[in-house]
Amino acid sequence: MKERTAYIRSVGRFLPERKLTNRDLEKMVDTSDEWIFTRTGIRERRILGPGPGCSHMAVPAAMECLERAGVTPDEVDLIIVGTVTPDMMFPSTACLVQDMIGAKNAWGFDLSAGCSGFLFSLSTACQLIESGRVNRALVIGSDVISTLIDYKDRGTCVIFGDGAGAVLLEACTEPGFGFLDFILKIDGSGGDYLCLKGGGSRIPPTHESLDNGAHYVTQDGRQVFKAAVSEMSDVSVRILERNGLSGKDLTFFVPHQANNRIIEATAKRLNVEEHKVVVNIHKYGNTVSASIPLALYEAVMERGHEFKNGDYLLMSAFGAGFTWGSTLLRWWQP
Ligand code: UT7
Repeated sequence: MKERTAYIRSVGRFLPERKLTNRDLEKMVDTSDEWIFTRTGIRERRILGPGPGCSHMAVPAAMECLERAGVTPDEVDLIIVGTVTPDMMFPSTACLVQDMIGAKNAWGFDLSAGCSGFLFSLSTACQLIESGRVNRALVIGSDVISTLIDYKDRGTCVIFGDGAGAVLLEACTEPGFGFLDFILKIDGSGGDYLCLKGGGSRIPPTHESLDNGAHYVTQDGRQVFKAAVSEMSDVSVRILERNGLSGKDLTFFVPHQANNRIIEATAKRLNVEEHKVVVNIHKYGNTVSASIPLALYEAVMERGHEFKNGDYLLMSAFGAGFTWGSTLLRWWQP
């Protein structure tokens, strides 16, 4: 058993005020509220739009974590921002956040892993805390995915929304508590099923790339759906089994919010009762890296009284890459 793990000291979030409802989308593409809700579980999503950038949401999410914990920015050692929509190619959004919040003793970086960005960032921060190099870390998932969506493409525009969620991690010295385990995976052969071809070094922005739509997200929804259900279920079952647990032992399951049918199918394979599955997709859609921390935030804020030290929480994500994984947290608060 590890002598030192990481635990979640506090949570924070930011959601843009502007709502884009299914009814709004009916006026933009050939779709209907009924189709979107039945096929995805989404009713509305939030839109930040171009201009303010990813850091505009990451900063208030991070500050909320610090305020809730009574920690000052100069006490943070590490900032990781999981994102596929950084403010700019470089410097990293982590550098911008560090400067904006005044975390003068922190280092950090951005981590790009599609919708698994928060989970991969969490795992990295946990390992740095376990090693003793870092005592306190801000892990943020923030994406302004609306800036990359073609609002004429009904296959993508109905599912995505903007937002940011964050957690403040600290070292936990109570053996057997905190983040106990991670299983993380990538499979680059799934890359073409969900990608943004333009804007990198292979297709830099040109008039031609703009005209070709290379700067918009493209997706083969069916392929992503199938892979998401099978891979999220597999790693979730495996992480439970290797820790001697089953779905029945969980207090909460916090899945990536991509499609309610993916969530339901995964929860069914895990044998987790419905009331333990955290779902907020109807309000925010798929917020990419922010999806898990936003769901976790709502679980902690609305049902925090149900959390007891020793409760098991499972989080699981799937995203572009393909990237996926699960983590097992044994809840602990000092
Ligand atoms: O976090 C990872 C990121 N992405 C995901 O996890 C996405 C996973 N995939 C999905 O959520 C689903 O595949 C979508 C919601 C994107 C699409 O739902 P689907 O049930 O897989 O639809 P489909 O692509 O199989 O299309 C079924 C039908 C097609 O019409 P025909 O060919 O049967 O006549 C589509 O043209 O639904 C049509 N369709 C729509 N109709 C109304 C596709 N999108 C829409 C739409 N409104 N927005």
